Amino acid sequence: MNRVSKSIMGALTLLLVWGCQEQKEAKDQWFYDAMKISVEQVKLAANHFKPGENPRSIESDGSVRLAGPKDWTCGFFPGTIWYAYEASQDIELKQKAAQFTESLDEVKNYTHTHDLGFMLYCSYGNGFRLTQNPSYKEVIMQGSKSLCSRFNSKVGAIRSWDFGEWQYPVIVDNMMNLEMLMWASNNGGDASFKEISISHANKTMANHFRDDYSSYHVLSYDTLTGKVISKGTYQGYSDDSAWARGQGWGLYGYTYMYGQTKDTKYLEQARHIAKFIMTHPRMPKDKVAYWDFDAPNIPEAPRDASAAAVIATALLDLSQVVDNGDEYFNYAEDILKSLSTEKYLAKPGTNKLFVLKHSVGALPKDSEIDVPINYADYYYLEAMIKYAHLKNMPLKK
Ligand code: GLY
Repeated sequence: MNRVSKSIMGALTLLLVWGCQEQKEAKDQWFYDAMKISVEQVKLAANHFKPGENPRSIESDGSVRLAGPKDWTCGFFPGTIWYAYEASQDIELKQKAAQFTESLDEVKNYTHTHDLGFMLYCSYGNGFRLTQNPSYKEVIMQGSKSLCSRFNSKVGAIRSWDFGEWQYPVIVDNMMNLEMLMWASNNGGDASFKEISISHANKTMANHFRDDYSSYHVLSYDTLTGKVISKGTYQGYSDDSAWARGQGWGLYGYTYMYGQTKDTKYLEQARHIAKFIMTHPRMPKDKVAYWDFDAPNIPEAPRDASAAAVIATALLDLSQVVDNGDEYFNYAEDILKSLSTEKYLAKPGTNKLFVLKHSVGALPKDSEIDVPINYADYYYLEAMIKYAHLKNMPLKK
């Protein structure tokens, strides 16, 4: 090859590389647009709301429902600000995240609820991850102790609720609270936190799931015999239905427990749950699930963006712990792309300053139907950040 041909070849190669780069950037544009919108919205919300009066959702009269420390959702807004800070490195967001987080200090001593993982790990857990503030770690340790006070060794599981008629209610959502316990145990906390988590996960795996790997929402146990008394629902369409967010909680929980323990039975369980979700004939085309897979009025039934966000973040994790995780990664990507369209992602300044629209809290209780809800925002941003890391993309351009 003479010198001229070599130069032409060199120039063509450069053009090709540049062209590919341009194409890749154009393909990722949806992500950067969505992150910019989300961070802007979170910043508006962080400046608008007061710590301790964290935004939860929208009431039917259009007002914002606020979450104080006693509300199970109180940790999601601080966690969402931490994620927005992580994505933007905006120091004002860091300060706000700290203020909203620290307003929840009293939660660490609560022993009346199983939701301490949601409340403390999303807030203080992310805060510690991003700042290494030792006082945040202390809160998580104390919160883990409080949560474990709800463990009954005869049943082998943590008690979820203190209200209602059940003798000893355990809900599938409770799998999510194991994340804090496992972290605490692995980071200087008591070994019993881990033992309790494993026992709870095993018990839930043995009793909460049906033959098709969908899950019941609420089980009640007999505290004298440790046996199951009843299987049913509280927030789903019916006792036998597959409440969408519950399927997401289970998927996330078993994926997480596999990552922590490398016990393959958890991985198998996660894969089965994923299959139930991903192959479900009533999953809509955009992969943002209806609030319950068995809702009677599909396709008119409301979607649940929160379920979709939980499923997406769990599938991204699952994609990393199997040999060929593309099917999970691609499914999560499809969900995130859908949630990043105008149908779900609010324009900054609208939607009462929540990031996502169209979630469902508890439809049978006539509560939070087709509204923005703080945990949808939290898991959406969590999944978006994970997605960028897995694709080796910077979080902002
Ligand atoms: N953990 C309650 C819910 O998912 O609505």
